[in-house]
Amino acid sequence: MISSEATLRLTRAHESTAANTFRVVPDPPIFVRGDGPWLFTVDGTRYLDLVCGSATTSLGHAHPAHMAALQEALATGILHTGTRLPSPFRATLYERLQAILPPGLTRVQLVNSGSEAVEAAIKGAQFATGRSRLVAFDGGYHGRTLGALSLTSGQHIRAPFHLLEASVDILPYPGPGMSADQALVAARTLMAERAASGDLPALVLVEAVQALSGLVSPGAAFLRGLSDLCREHDIPLALDEIWNGIGRTGCWFGFDHAGIVPDIVILGKALSGGLPLSAVAAGERFLGQWPAGMHTSTFQGNPLACAMAVATLDTITNDSLLGHVENVIAPMMAAALQPLVGRNGVTGVRCAGAQAAIEFRDPAGQPDPTRAVAVQCALLDHHILAYGGGRAGECLMLVPPINLGAEVLSEALSALKSLV
Ligand SMILES: Cc1ncc(COP(=O)(O)O)c(C=O)c1O
Repeated sequence: MISSEATLRLTRAHESTAANTFRVVPDPPIFVRGDGPWLFTVDGTRYLDLVCGSATTSLGHAHPAHMAALQEALATGILHTGTRLPSPFRATLYERLQAILPPGLTRVQLVNSGSEAVEAAIKGAQFATGRSRLVAFDGGYHGRTLGALSLTSGQHIRAPFHLLEASVDILPYPGPGMSADQALVAARTLMAERAASGDLPALVLVEAVQALSGLVSPGAAFLRGLSDLCREHDIPLALDEIWNGIGRTGCWFGFDHAGIVPDIVILGKALSGGLPLSAVAAGERFLGQWPAGMHTSTFQGNPLACAMAVATLDTITNDSLLGHVENVIAPMMAAALQPLVGRNGVTGVRCAGAQAAIEFRDPAGQPDPTRAVAVQCALLDHHILAYGGGRAGECLMLVPPINLGAEVLSEALSALKSLV
């Protein structure tokens, strides 16, 4: 492995400036080893990882089940067989997903990134319905490929590009200044108009909690109302569970808390513990009618990534990690962080399972990304990695491993409290 100095030099010289590598600090630590919730630099300095590789390494680093699964897959000597041959690892993943998905979502399309899964969901819905229009929600994040970006909020990341804007309606999402009832009225009005003009959408895409917008939760009543509305008009409802899914909220899926059953579920990130894999799950109508080859991608269903995903799902089940999130991590985070509201610019604390967003505003009440980044940097100085979020970058986000022990979590929360 090359030195840390060479790593920084080569990255600075050659990495696309679109990457996020130097966004928070000019000299980020270079990690050469991971173990559980810990990351280590070359001199052995230990950092607590409360970012989890953008919510991918939810079981921490080098989890024994992941390592064993990778070794089993590697021992076959087969790194990929392409998309035209079945794979035991892929087939096992299909079986495991069936055990956790709502009934009826019997088909799975594997792809490589969250954005690509969103694209596949769009195409699947357009193909099945013969319709073209799409609906998403203000504040939502669905990725950066052109179709997914067309459904993602944020003028600064959308403006330079040519998106599918003419085909997309962005509806209000409940949150500050927008009640669930108001948001539902807006959704009903739009669907009534589209029904009258014979131009109903092919897809409504929504997050059960808008994670990157700073953990904005629309509430169960909104999601139930939206689900009913979609059923009424026969519009496919897709839940983007790329961030919230696979245990992050204390259920397998964020939508479980609302008791709804979507037509399409989109998964990514934590599914495969850090290897690139994402999935769209849906019924026969959406993923059982496409002719062969209608949506392929060279690396889809890579056996190593599938083996990791199977190990992830098995570990969450065997170690009762949904219960650990619900009964240990979530209450500890809420109890420690809620009292920060009102202190030194903290205007809100939002928690959703094993994740928290701490919102900072300046004395004029404006979002204060500078303060959020300052606390993130102070935590880094204390060897704790935290994430940024919020629509204007005004939130500090904690995304711990979902198997993090109470003692380590408690120490990290105390350190954070002393820095805010
Ligand atoms: C909810 C949600 N959807 C989609 C995506 C896009 O996933 P990817 O970055 O893997 O393309 C993300 C990424 O953060 C996400 O949080």
